[in-house]
Amino acid sequence: MAKITYIEHDGTDHVIDVKPGLTVMEGAVKNNVPGIDADCGGACACATCHVYVDDAWLDKTGEKSAMEESMLDFAENVEPNSRLSCQIKVSDALDGLVVRLPESQH
Ligand code: FES
Repeated sequence: MAKITYIEHDGTDHVIDVKPGLTVMEGAVKNNVPGIDADCGGACACATCHVYVDDAWLDKTGEKSAMEESMLDFAENVEPNSRLSCQIKVSDALDGLVVRLPESQH
């Protein structure tokens, strides 16, 4: 299991044990973390699963694909550490990951 901390825009945090193989988005949706709607179900086609990856974890979460980059153009308040959480696969290497949710998603 990888412990992932999801921090809502108002500072409320949710610490969840997520099974490797799921995505960061699925870990949130299955555990009712508010703010990740995942309208497209993880197909990289909606941008409602936008999160900010804690700087310390940017290397471990990997690179954005070209498709993810272009979908992020539709998200609000995109920052250099913005990711679509459905495109981040959970593995033991992500144990301790911290992601923050944008103000527009709550
Ligand atoms: S769930 Fe739709 S882009 Fe991630």
